[in-house]
Amino acid sequence: MKNIAISIIFCHLLVNAQETNSDNKYYKIAVIGTGYVGLVLGAGLAEFGHYVECADIDQEKVNKLNDGIIPIFEPGLSELVKKNCDNNSLLFTSDVDSAIQKADIVFIAVGTPTKEDGKADVSAVLSVVTRIGKNLNGHKIICTKSTVPIGMSHTIQSLIQPFETSTNFVDIVSNPEFLREGTAVQDFFNPDRVVIGANSEQATKILCDIYKPLLQKNIPFLITDIASSETIKYASNGFLAVKLSFINEIARLCEKVGANCYDVAKGIGLDPRIGNLFLKPGPGYGGSCLPKDTKALLSKGKEIGLELKLIKAAIEANDDQKSYIVEKIKTLLHNNLAEKTIAIWGLAFKANTDDIRESCAITIVQQLLEQGAHIKAYDPIASNNMRRILPDITYCSNKEDALEGADVLVILTDWQEFTSINTSTLSNLMKQKIIYDTRNILCELPLRTTGFTYCGLGK
Ligand code: UGA
Repeated sequence: MKNIAISIIFCHLLVNAQETNSDNKYYKIAVIGTGYVGLVLGAGLAEFGHYVECADIDQEKVNKLNDGIIPIFEPGLSELVKKNCDNNSLLFTSDVDSAIQKADIVFIAVGTPTKEDGKADVSAVLSVVTRIGKNLNGHKIICTKSTVPIGMSHTIQSLIQPFETSTNFVDIVSNPEFLREGTAVQDFFNPDRVVIGANSEQATKILCDIYKPLLQKNIPFLITDIASSETIKYASNGFLAVKLSFINEIARLCEKVGANCYDVAKGIGLDPRIGNLFLKPGPGYGGSCLPKDTKALLSKGKEIGLELKLIKAAIEANDDQKSYIVEKIKTLLHNNLAEKTIAIWGLAFKANTDDIRESCAITIVQQLLEQGAHIKAYDPIASNNMRRILPDITYCSNKEDALEGADVLVILTDWQEFTSINTSTLSNLMKQKIIYDTRNILCELPLRTTGFTYCGLGK
């Protein structure tokens, strides 16, 4: 094995290197885990021409996938899956052992949820690695796609070592995922970068071959050591969380000093050192990634005796943001939430997904319930998922139903369908004409002129 120096290899260099070997190489790939990362990855790699088996121990899920039923809402995914299943380059199976045996490369895409102590629960990753060891029949690459704690490759190496022989052995690669839910398919084919952390030139070359269509599109490839690659993933999500908590704090400041946070965000974002993306204030970041990865980063810091103060502050500011929203609702209702009816539009952690993991709606609704409010909620697709967590609120089948008799309408998710509202319908249905738009998606003027109390965030 040869150490590779940290280097940024931009695509044109690699494409030139590939030109000496212009044949496309196709591989047999196993993707273990059919969550949103595994599904998008599997379907995307099949689209690149590889033969992909997506394996999952959940037989019911595999059956559904084979019947063309995609368990998550992700725009463009079901079409991509269907197309590649139809041409036999993508297959779903619960026979994990067989998928591993057939594969040249095994991508691990199982969940790494947060444990009570804030650490990532890697038990699913470890059980996949043991299975790979038991089914080692030649040289294989184990590629971690799930977000795994920094240093995980050493654990994988020591777990797999007892199974290795001179002919059956593995190379470990870290290839973190940067997809965003809701735009995951689009992100897969147009990523900002591909990061490959490896200790072996051969493994790096194979990963570059696998992603060749992206190289040919001039997407930057960053080849680095494994620890740096693992850290890049956490540092990215950590930075994004800090950026959001920063703008949310500035939004609160803006409200107090009479400034407009949108103009402030525009003004600072025009400085290319800051950048204009990820500066929209909101009710607090959620989802399965930023909250989980910031907690895991904090706990990694603790483990190695390092206090990551900025990450800690980002987490605290995010918790404060949700309480701030509740306080604001209370103020709008003259400091009394008891017996008030609150219409909530949006339960998903952001638009275009049915994912409610760590959605700010959970904490905000719970705090409102604790203070005696009644909740009538509507979300275009996330209600069924939310029912499991918040069984005792009223779920409405359309946005108008949620408004009936409401003292206030609170918008928590930036769904497109919430932007078109009819002020007279609102007036007729609501008990009090009060709107709290935490995503700033409504047009303020027509609401104010028709007698509504309209409150945006950060202005
Ligand atoms: C995040 C990262 O953006 C991805 O790059 C990463 O691959 C992914 O985590 C992961 O680790 O798997 P995701 O969780 O899908 O992606 O969601 P984001 O689009 O990052 O949004 C996170 C939260 O921030 C949402 O609650 C969203 O509403 C909020 N947000 C985002 C804002 O409040 N303002 C913004 O300007 C942007």
